[in-house]
Amino acid sequence: MSDDVLVVFTPSGKRGRVAQGTTVLQAARELGVDLDSVCGGRAICGRCQVTLSEGAFPKHGIESRTEHLSDLGDNEIAYDEVEGLAEGRRLGCSARLLKGAVIDVPPREPGSQTGGSEENRSARSVCQSAGQAACRRRVRAKHARAGI
Ligand code: FES
Repeated sequence: MSDDVLVVFTPSGKRGRVAQGTTVLQAARELGVDLDSVCGGRAICGRCQVTLSEGAFPKHGIESRTEHLSDLGDNEIAYDEVEGLAEGRRLGCSARLLKGAVIDVPPREPGSQTGGSEENRSARSVCQSAGQAACRRRVRAKHARAGI
């Protein structure tokens, strides 16, 4: 394959080549990496969060850079507005591999799906029952209330 990219997942050390443009979640599935997904890749559950490890990894033959993943997508921005996405975190179901990358799968946070403010729990409920479009409307309404 000429348009494939090398990806290494940590801490598992699983690695392999996937087609350029593959989502991190799909790459994880192809390589047998345990990356959670409850919402089926709809950017709702937040269970697929990963972090790109920046730097040179001669052991893996990879120069891993932030720009080796696609830009933050609308789905991730919407998720961030509702649930909050820690700095450096990406949603594996949205981030696409453009070049070689080392991807860290953080340990699962206990209760990560049940916390948050009442407003965020309500927003999550809207997202889960009505889908992404309703979720975006909710985010826009939140911004309007906040005068953003
Ligand atoms: S799989 Fe649910 S947010 Fe990515």
